[in-house]
Amino acid sequence: MQETIERLRAEALAAIGAAADEAALEAVRVSVLGRKGSLTGLLRGLKDLGDEARREAGAALNAAKDDLNAALTAREAQLGAGRPAASSGYDLTLPGRAPAPSGSLHPLQTVLEEICDIFHGMGFSRDDGPEVELDYYNFTALNFPDDHPARDIQDTFYINDKVLLRTQTSPVQVRMMERREPPLACVFPGRVYRNENADASHSSEFFQIEGLVVDRAVSMADLKDTVDTFVRNYFGASAPTRFRPHYFPFTEPSVEVDMQCILCGGKGCGTCKQGGWLEIMGAGMVHPNVFRAAGYPDDRYTGFAFGMGIDRIAMLKYGISDIRLLYENDLRFLNQFRGVQ
Ligand code: PHE
Repeated sequence: MQETIERLRAEALAAIGAAADEAALEAVRVSVLGRKGSLTGLLRGLKDLGDEARREAGAALNAAKDDLNAALTAREAQLGAGRPAASSGYDLTLPGRAPAPSGSLHPLQTVLEEICDIFHGMGFSRDDGPEVELDYYNFTALNFPDDHPARDIQDTFYINDKVLLRTQTSPVQVRMMERREPPLACVFPGRVYRNENADASHSSEFFQIEGLVVDRAVSMADLKDTVDTFVRNYFGASAPTRFRPHYFPFTEPSVEVDMQCILCGGKGCGTCKQGGWLEIMGAGMVHPNVFRAAGYPDDRYTGFAFGMGIDRIAMLKYGISDIRLLYENDLRFLNQFRGVQ
C-alpha cells in the first residue's frame, strides 16, 4: 500500500510540473483528487483494511493529498503570472488614452468679458443690438443728416439703401432709449464693420463696447469719473487719462480719451508712436437731437456715451502687434491663449 501511494504521489507531482496551462493542470487535479480520481479511490478503499493498516495508509494518503494540493496551487500561480490582471477584464499594460484637447476663450472674448465685468461693478447692465442694422439707427437717429459729409467718416458696407452692416455700436443707444426710460446705465459690446483696407492696425471687422448713461443732471464730470474708474480698474493706477476735444454728430461736446502709454509710462515708444499717449475711446454728452429721435421729452434728461475699441485693448494687454491675427483663427496664434485669462 505504501508503495502504491508513493508511486501515485510521484506520478501526480510530475504531471503537475508538466502541465502546460491551466486546463491541463485542472485535468491532472481531476484525475487524482476528483470524485473518481486515483487518490480518492485509495481513500475510499481504507474502510476495507484492518485497524493498523488503515491508520498507516490513512496518514500516508492524507500527507500525499496535502502535498499534491500545495503543488497544484503553486503551479497554478506560476501559470497565471504571465497574464497580469487578465481576469479583471482590464489590460493595465496598455498606454493610456490622451485627454480630449480643451478649447479656450478667444482673447477678444476674454477682454470683452473683463471690460463688461468692470462696468457691471459700477452698476451698468449689458445689452446688445443687431449687426445688420438700419441706416436709420446707425446714422439718421444719431444726428447724421442725410447726405451730410459726416457719413463719410465711416466707410460703410451697405446691403441696400436702408440696410447696412453697423459701423459702430452707437445705434444700440437709440434702440435702448426707445425701449426704456431713464435712469439708464448700460454697456453694449459687439462686432462692427467698416470698408477699410486691412493692415496691422485696421481690419474690416472689429469689436467695440458702447456705454450709455442717462438720467437727470448727468454731467461731463460723471463721464470723466467713469472713464477714470474703468482705466484704473483695468490698467492700474499708473495710467492717467486726458480728454481731447473732438467731433461726433451724436455727442456735444465730444472728446477723444487718451490713456498714458502703459508700455513706456508716457516717455514715448513704438506703440504710442513716440507721443506717450494712446487713444482708447470716443465719448461725449448725448446730443439733444438723439434724445429727440429716441422720443425722450426735451430738456428733461442729460447723458453721456462712450465707444471703445476692444481690439486695441486686447492688443495692448497681450502685446499683439497686428490686429489681423485676431481674425485669422490661426491655431498657432490661438493656442497661445489656452489657460490664459
Ligand atoms: N461711435 C464712435 C466711433 O465709432 C465712438 C463714440 C461712441 C463716440 C459714443 C461718442 C460717443 O468712433
